[in-house]
Amino acid sequence: MSRSINLAVIPGDGIGQEVVAEGLKVLSAVLPQDVKLETKEYDFGAKRYHATGETLTDADLAALKQHDAILLGAIGDPSVPSGVLERGFLLKLRFAFDHHVNLRPSKLLPGVATPLAGQPEIDFVVVREGTEGPYTGNGGTIRRGTEHEVATEVSVNTAYGVERVVRDAFARAQARPRKKLALIHKNNVLTFAGHLWTNVFNRVAAEFPDVTTEYMHVDAATIYLVTQPERFDVIVTDNLFGDIITDLAAAVSGGIGVAASGNINPGREFPSMFEPVHGSAPDIAGQGKADPTATVLSVALLLRHLGHDGEADRIDAAVTADLTERAALGARSTAQIGDALAARVAG
Ligand code: NAI
Ligand code: MG
Repeated sequence: MSRSINLAVIPGDGIGQEVVAEGLKVLSAVLPQDVKLETKEYDFGAKRYHATGETLTDADLAALKQHDAILLGAIGDPSVPSGVLERGFLLKLRFAFDHHVNLRPSKLLPGVATPLAGQPEIDFVVVREGTEGPYTGNGGTIRRGTEHEVATEVSVNTAYGVERVVRDAFARAQARPRKKLALIHKNNVLTFAGHLWTNVFNRVAAEFPDVTTEYMHVDAATIYLVTQPERFDVIVTDNLFGDIITDLAAAVSGGIGVAASGNINPGREFPSMFEPVHGSAPDIAGQGKADPTATVLSVALLLRHLGHDGEADRIDAAVTADLTERAALGARSTAQIGDALAARVAG
């Protein structure tokens, strides 16, 4: 645990600005006096793109690399063509900083409504591969715009890339009380990548005899996430499947307003980045309606990554307490929720 935190802050677009302000409020409130918090704000996103045409330069990456961690709000705006900021900023950063573990916990907290019948016990973590699969930009197009247009989007899977994320997932499963790990893929149809994933998974499993494993096709997994979410403990999966099932996981476990994530470089050669799962929500931006809870929970993940477990626990407890009372409190603004959480962690 370090006695100082040098944090890069990227509020980004839309509600990113609003929720990050609350995340920082809670972070300042939870840190003890003797931990020095330094923050530097970066203006990436639509504003920078319109002003300079840039999304993320090599100089930006060099500057970001100096920080201990990155807190991100959201990037994306209707004024920018789709894909420019997603590829040019988000994916570029995740690849450049080798964020190969995309961690997305799903926990249904008390007092939080789920669209599922009953109040199932939901407490699982998705470990999504973050640097390979169909998201590497390995593809192309010819005869564009004609009726003979051809497009390829190749999924890249390496034994090295799969093994490191599978190992990370086994270690996380081993550290949890239930010690269960599910591999989710589609190895009956995507046989080349599927066999690589399955073989690596089975080989690594032999080193973790205390972890119970199962394999599930991704389509079946979407059923079980709705009908039996309590069966999951840790899930490891490919980049694309992980992207999709974590949105479903967020929907069943309290919604996008409370879904946190970490883009983690476990070897710590680069700063890891923590962000809410949601985007910039242009439909509610600037109105004080955004729920900052997902960002606050992302701050807890950030603190845990930096070894500040006690402070992370205090944030988690404050969020749990706030959610329990939320229904009775009526509608609150983004800042009011942030103030309430900051008061709880400080008190
Ligand atoms: P979105 O997550 O921004 O919004 C989806 C829906 O959820 C909207 O109705 C929104 O109002 C609501 N919502 C989202 N966050 C909320 C919060 N904290 N509190 C209350 N309601 C919330 O997804 P959408 O609309 O598909 O994308 C909007 C933009 O965000 C796009 O440009 C997209 O590319 C970008 N995006 C960026 C991400 C990132 O920075 N990592 C992740 C996802 C989307
Ligand atoms: Mg997504």
